[in-house]
Amino acid sequence: MTRKDLEILYDSGAFDPSPRHQELFAVHVPFDTMTGTRGCEQALASALRRRERVTLVGTSGAGKSSVIAATLHPMVEDLVPLPIPVAVERPAVAGDPVAFVRHLVQVVSRLVQQAQPDRGGQARKIENETRPKIKRGRGFSVTPGLVGLSVRLAYELEAAVDEPSHTSDQIMDQGRQILDLFRSRGLTPVLVLDDTDRWLNTAYLPESSQTRAAFFATIPRLLAEELDAAAAIAVHPTYLDDPAFRAARGFLSRMISVPAVPSAGGIAAIAHRRIALAMDRHGLPAIEANEVLADAALVTLHDYYSSRPSDVRRNLLLVLHAALTLAVDDLDAKRIERGHVELAIAEGEG
Ligand SMILES: Nc1ncnc2c1ncn2[C@@H]1O[C@H](COP(=O)(O)OP(=O)(O)OP(=O)(O)O)[C@@H](O)[C@H]1O
Ligand SMILES: [Mg+2]
Repeated sequence: MTRKDLEILYDSGAFDPSPRHQELFAVHVPFDTMTGTRGCEQALASALRRRERVTLVGTSGAGKSSVIAATLHPMVEDLVPLPIPVAVERPAVAGDPVAFVRHLVQVVSRLVQQAQPDRGGQARKIENETRPKIKRGRGFSVTPGLVGLSVRLAYELEAAVDEPSHTSDQIMDQGRQILDLFRSRGLTPVLVLDDTDRWLNTAYLPESSQTRAAFFATIPRLLAEELDAAAAIAVHPTYLDDPAFRAARGFLSRMISVPAVPSAGGIAAIAHRRIALAMDRHGLPAIEANEVLADAALVTLHDYYSSRPSDVRRNLLLVLHAALTLAVDDLDAKRIERGHVELAIAEGEG
């Protein structure tokens, strides 16, 4: 490990606490691997394959989106994620079954278009040209949208989403038909509802408690009884005491809590993955985490993280990122030492 390597890690934002969404799966270290259990990613994947509706519970920054991205990434061929933003949409989408299914149809329509850049009109071509291409180191590029969709299925989906539907029944049928098309190819479509915790922020969305109540009163039931669809729903732990959420529990088959990173070794694994990716972007071989981080630094970081809510983003990566900055500024340093972590923690608390 040289100063140059330290600077490369710093320049490429190796410990960026909020990587782009498309990169989440590449930097993810399965909690199952870290904990030596099968209670998180594997439990999620197998529940989704059984078409269950799974709530993923974790505080902000715990790793809910990361777990979802790793479980439903483009290389998992049988599970097809259909991301349905609900909190940023019109409130009707979150609380009215027909508006929700209409929104689902639009989402699928958009994903099919993205998966087929060479089909469709000029407008679509322009859209594809202007969309930023995600280019990362060898082997880690991801294309947004439905990857590996067969031409035949895409064609059938396109026809199904273009079908005019006016009445509530027609829209419901259209939603079911689209989901069945995936299933007829041995795929499991998974509705991903990953933004429900936006409703915690009442300053951002003044009506959020009503919208949240409407959502839990209608959508889980719709997913279960009308669509019979697999779904991954990320929720904040405070929702567990929310009457609307509790009333919906009967329609939500399974609850998985995102575990905490269990040990300093787990932190080393997360750091190692990010170091390897950063070096790879520069065409350089990976460096072991213990060359970048002293053991004592890892232990101090783990003590700090585990004494607080398990927020990987803030209590782990943010500190790691700050410690890396301090190590780069410290001209005598060749790696991140305990002192850098302690100072980063003190600065963060100050
Ligand atoms: N198991 C993990 N391995 C590697 N990185 C992780 C892991 N879990 C979380 N992270 C990292 O922690 C940060 C926060 O994760 P994520 O965005 O998934 O949290 P979240 O629970 O979805 O938060 P929010 O509620 O704010 O959406 C990201 O940088 C992510 O890469
Ligand atoms: Mg998230």
